[in-house]
Amino acid sequence: MKPQRKIKVTTRRADAVTQRTDMLVVGAFSHRKTIAPALRPLDQALAGALLQLYKIGDFTGDGDTQSTLYTNGAIPAKRILLCGLGDRSKVTLTTLRKCAAAAAGKAVSLGVSSISVALHMAMPKSLDRSEVGRVIAEGICHGAYRYEEYMTAEKKAESPFVATLVEADATVSRALAGGVRRGTTIGLAGNFARTIANRPGNVITPKELAKVARGVARSSPRLSCRVMDPKQLVTLGMGGILAVGTGSVHPPRLIVLRHTAKGKSAKSKPTIALVGKAVTFDAGGISIKPAEHMDQMKFDKSGGVAVIATLKAIAELGLDLNVVGIVPSAENLPSGSAYRPGDIVTTYSGKTVEIINTDAEGRMILADGIAYANTLKCDIIVDIATLTGACLVALGQHQAGLMSDDDDLLKALKHAADQSGEPVWHLPSGEEYARDMKSKVADLKNAGATRWGGASTAAAFLRQFADQTPWAHLDIAGMDVFNNGSETATPGSSGFGVRLLCAFLTHMSQR
Ligand code: BES
Ligand code: ZN
Ligand code: ZN
Repeated sequence: MKPQRKIKVTTRRADAVTQRTDMLVVGAFSHRKTIAPALRPLDQALAGALLQLYKIGDFTGDGDTQSTLYTNGAIPAKRILLCGLGDRSKVTLTTLRKCAAAAAGKAVSLGVSSISVALHMAMPKSLDRSEVGRVIAEGICHGAYRYEEYMTAEKKAESPFVATLVEADATVSRALAGGVRRGTTIGLAGNFARTIANRPGNVITPKELAKVARGVARSSPRLSCRVMDPKQLVTLGMGGILAVGTGSVHPPRLIVLRHTAKGKSAKSKPTIALVGKAVTFDAGGISIKPAEHMDQMKFDKSGGVAVIATLKAIAELGLDLNVVGIVPSAENLPSGSAYRPGDIVTTYSGKTVEIINTDAEGRMILADGIAYANTLKCDIIVDIATLTGACLVALGQHQAGLMSDDDDLLKALKHAADQSGEPVWHLPSGEEYARDMKSKVADLKNAGATRWGGASTAAAFLRQFADQTPWAHLDIAGMDVFNNGSETATPGSSGFGVRLLCAFLTHMSQR
């Protein structure tokens, strides 16, 4: 296995115009008759070439567009990548992050391994420079990423990809640098999640995922990891995780990765539980899935992987918060020992579940994970899972489903979605949906009578294992699967959830 290419983002106090670099990245808005004041020195050094691009219409400044300019010695930079930022009055941090991702992606495609970035120059002064630095760094990390561990034909591990934010003003540069550090930590944690999620089912089994979590825990004194094997799961009575795991020769695990707040304040700080679904491969079990696209079900561990990566990030960020990551992991396969439709499973909470469809396995392992979180006396439980095809049908691949009956939690997660550029859409999960999940022979059944409202009925099922604890659920089914790549992201896992959860936890730690 080839190591993944390293990505570095730094800040330098320097003038963009005089930077010696293979590529200088700058942004510009649409509908301009004149060059923005911030770009004028650059335009002058290029004898008006920037303005000329607008005039002849090659560059419109519209969002998601780029133009490459070859400087031919006019300035030390070999080329300029001019990125469209769209309408100036509509620009947000999300625009900037996407732009940075597209620029880094372009550089990697061209084989350029070192870039200078001055995307912040055109930004309105109203945007906080540290936040600007954060989103640019997040975008660069995201856009420069490629998954290459098994590409043996391509040349061996290349030199790192290095991006340098250049800014001449000391105060601005300092503000940017703080954001760049945080953004890089979050962005690289996202890439770490993508690499683990991209690894296939024959490589990442529940046991291997537990090793990954242990490795993360070793990297920080604030983190500790405990892994429950099947024997311990039997002792605890984790019937949901065990049932899903019985069909595979790779037995299930419950991974518990804890982050403890610093010093004496630790006890007074709230504890937030993140519960992530990690089905290392979901064939559907006895209720087997169709062959077409079944390969995509290696991404069914994405929720759990996002939780592990988020804990890594918050330890590196030094957040003053207690967080417990709970990752139930199993492989869902059909076999002579697999659980079957009609089975009645006693979960960790004591609630019994009639199995209608073995492909509704995520809620079975999450039921135990959420109930376990409840025994730890957490103040908040947020679960994240590639839970339902129905969510993908409802929201497509642009937004994740968010379900909760707690207004404060909904507000906090929506705010985190805005700040992280990982959008969520509130879907219902109330009593009327829970009614669909009542069994005639057990407390609950794991699938409703119809597929209608499947994302909401699944959430209503999970809700019952959180008891009185404020709870929210993120259905990220559409975010990693069938991802064939775009201008801002390479094919495969998007690492969805890491930025969102980091933003949420950062906010919680500041309360
Ligand atoms: N892992 C799947 C959900 C999924 C589907 C994720 C497509 C990503 C893309 C989940 O375990 C599943 O199969 N859910 C069933 C539930 C149904 C049987 C009640 C589904 O959505 O069809
Ligand atoms: Zn399934
Ligand atoms: Zn699944």
